[in-house]
Amino acid sequence: MADNADGGIKVADGNVRNGYYRQMMSNIERQAIDEASMVRIAGQLAECIVEQIDSHASESSKNPVVIYLQGDLGAGKTTFSRAFIRAMGHQGAVKSPTYTLVEPYDLSPPVYHFDLYRLGDPEELEFMGIRDYFSGNAICLVEWPDKGYGILPVADLTLTLAYHTGGSRDLTLTAHNPSMSATLARLDII
Ligand SMILES: Nc1ncnc2c1ncn2[C@@H]1O[C@H](COP(=O)(O)OP(=O)(O)OP(=O)(O)O)[C@@H](O)[C@H]1O
Ligand SMILES: [Mg+2]
Repeated sequence: MADNADGGIKVADGNVRNGYYRQMMSNIERQAIDEASMVRIAGQLAECIVEQIDSHASESSKNPVVIYLQGDLGAGKTTFSRAFIRAMGHQGAVKSPTYTLVEPYDLSPPVYHFDLYRLGDPEELEFMGIRDYFSGNAICLVEWPDKGYGILPVADLTLTLAYHTGGSRDLTLTAHNPSMSATLARLDII
């Protein structure tokens, strides 16, 4: 991948996806040796993001926090999202939104968990009323974001999961703007 002059990122297929992933501002890596360690990292990220949102609570313009979760089938995107949502105080079940496309959580701030794997066409997001979800100070966790390319709002943070046999996972967290970079810097010292 390479940055291009307009701030877009040239992806492997040679196309420039301007503004989609945006530029990489900073990157941190973690290894989750097992599921419990993945749950812990998700909880730490949730804590840092909520702190960052709270520190900007007095600002009148509020923007959602958009997190893309990438990785193969079974990499742990839902496991990570579930732990993130529980760390934010949700006590019930967190089911995978594979069929519903989105599951809402009435938390503070609200969380919307998307799984776009079964999305036929990015345009369907418009019919779902995507703008209502990506608004205010919501946190949007999006599995399979590529399926929404062109309509889905850009990411503030991309989490990429890679798995190894035996249950360990490599996590790469990439911030795409200064605010998320500050959040990752906090996470880095926990
Ligand atoms: N270190 C780990 N982190 C996360 N999940 C793990 C880990 N080790 C084993 N697992 C298991 O791997 C599976 C991950 O499944 P999960 O549904 O979270 O993946 P996914 O990336 O959401 O897949 P999909 O693309 O199908 O939505 C779970 O069964 C979980 O118990
Ligand atoms: Mg999943």
